Amino acid sequence: SSGAPPGPPSRLSISRAGLGACPRRQEVLASPLLLFANRRDVRLVDAGGAKLESTIVVSGLEDAAAVDFQYSQGVIYWTDVSEEAIKQTLFNQSGGAVQSVIVSGLVSPDGLACDWVGKKLYWTDSETNRIEVASLNGTSRKVLFWQDLDQPRAIALDPAHGYMYWTDWGETPRIERAGMDSSVRKIIVDSDIYWPNGLTIDLEEQKLYWADAKLSFIHRANLDGSFRQKVVEGSLTHPFALTLSGDTLYWTDWQTHSIHACNKRTGEKRREILGALYSPMDIQVLSQDRQPYFHTPCEEDNGGCSHLCLLSPREPFYACACPTGVQLEDDGKTCKAGAEEVLLLARRTDLRRISLDMPDFTDIILQVDDIRHAIAIDYDPVERYVYWTDDEVRAIRRAYLDGSGAQTLVSTEINDPDGIAVDWVARNLYWTDTGTNRIEVTRLNGTSRKILISENLDEPRAIVLNPAMG
Ligand SMILES: *[C@@H]1O[C@H](CO)[C@@H](O)[C@H](O)[C@H]1NC(C)=O
Ligand SMILES: *[C@@H]1O[C@H](CO)[C@@H](O)[C@H](O)[C@H]1NC(C)=O
Ligand SMILES: *[C@@H]1O[C@H](CO)[C@@H](O)[C@H](O)[C@H]1NC(C)=O
Repeated sequence: SSGAPPGPPSRLSISRAGLGACPRRQEVLASPLLLFANRRDVRLVDAGGAKLESTIVVSGLEDAAAVDFQYSQGVIYWTDVSEEAIKQTLFNQSGGAVQSVIVSGLVSPDGLACDWVGKKLYWTDSETNRIEVASLNGTSRKVLFWQDLDQPRAIALDPAHGYMYWTDWGETPRIERAGMDSSVRKIIVDSDIYWPNGLTIDLEEQKLYWADAKLSFIHRANLDGSFRQKVVEGSLTHPFALTLSGDTLYWTDWQTHSIHACNKRTGEKRREILGALYSPMDIQVLSQDRQPYFHTPCEEDNGGCSHLCLLSPREPFYACACPTGVQLEDDGKTCKAGAEEVLLLARRTDLRRISLDMPDFTDIILQVDDIRHAIAIDYDPVERYVYWTDDEVRAIRRAYLDGSGAQTLVSTEINDPDGIAVDWVARNLYWTDTGTNRIEVTRLNGTSRKILISENLDEPRAIVLNPAMG
């Protein structure tokens, strides 16, 4: 393939061998199966079938936007921008169970890409302005980029070379590329670009294709942005996403409510594949060809990494990484047990923690149910419980930092618990109540409750302790 960027020769040959080795290629190319999100459902259509009818893979969705798959495991993943979640199901079992992968800390996950060899999910969020990665089951989640992102949308991966690509249609629209380990970030297209929407990679010819919804074109370029060429010029209505198989490009269009196709080199042989759709969003060619196998350094013992092993364009072609907020030890492989300095925040309807160990300061919501009006918050570094007061539930509660072990400690004779303080030495909990106008104390588990001061208090609010001085 001419025009391939210079890369590690060993890996290039591996990936090429992987591509060439797929025996069913011609057959699959003749009749690609297209997987697409349609807001209310996710569907499949056989683009080579005689009667073009789509079959529903999952229905009853709120707002499915981005979609991708892991072919070897038969799993499809999608984002739901109303439910603010990433979910999965098996594509070979219609009516199969839907499982949640990520359910917190998302607002508008518009782009999703599965690293099929490294077994990771990458996604963009145009509201939190982050690009994140996690294991396929949602664990070991990490924020990769949190700066200089405005409206990140489509994301595509080239695991054979360790690169990720994304579009951003914000104030300064552009296409960027970075290592899948967040290294070597670079803008590769920033001219003649307005609303870069869809993005896809031609793995065989090492080309990047994208659609611009405002300038109504599909262009392509080398994977470093060079040698840009027109494919379809100025005649599209509102392309949203695109994908390719063999010589054919497929894209969805918001205005025509259709899936369209054309020749990827010439833009000719334009045709409608499927029309009268509710709202076609992201689209992928569901095929083993789009996910060729090759060996990666992450396969043996997870690359020696305790948590994430991310593919990288730089030698040794992978990097270990830790969940958001957690530092990597000096060995470059093991993650610390957790964040060492954490800011805790009560935010009325949720509690959040922000690691101060890492520069991204990403807030993570504690997975605790039924928080309605959290006011005061404190922490016991000995047992590692977070304590808080809730002015609507009228209770004092505690839970671990990961949200587990939630308990209600005090729920009677409590009106407006406003301030709270943990005595981490003598193991007691103090609080103020602006309703009962008292300051009270209990053991940290809620037993042995005692009123300390009930006179001459009008609206007692904040409270702090100095245990060393009593
Ligand atoms: C799922 O179906 C596809 C197409 O019918 C088939 O090629 C593939 O082997 C199946 N995968 C699994 C995991 O069953
Ligand atoms: C999630 O996936 C990771 C990586 O494959 C694995 O180590 C871990 O055990 C899985 N966790 C659960 C809860 O399935
Ligand atoms: C509460 O804590 C006190 C002091 O640590 C302990 O003696 C008591 O057994 C605990 N009670 C319960 C119900 O856990």
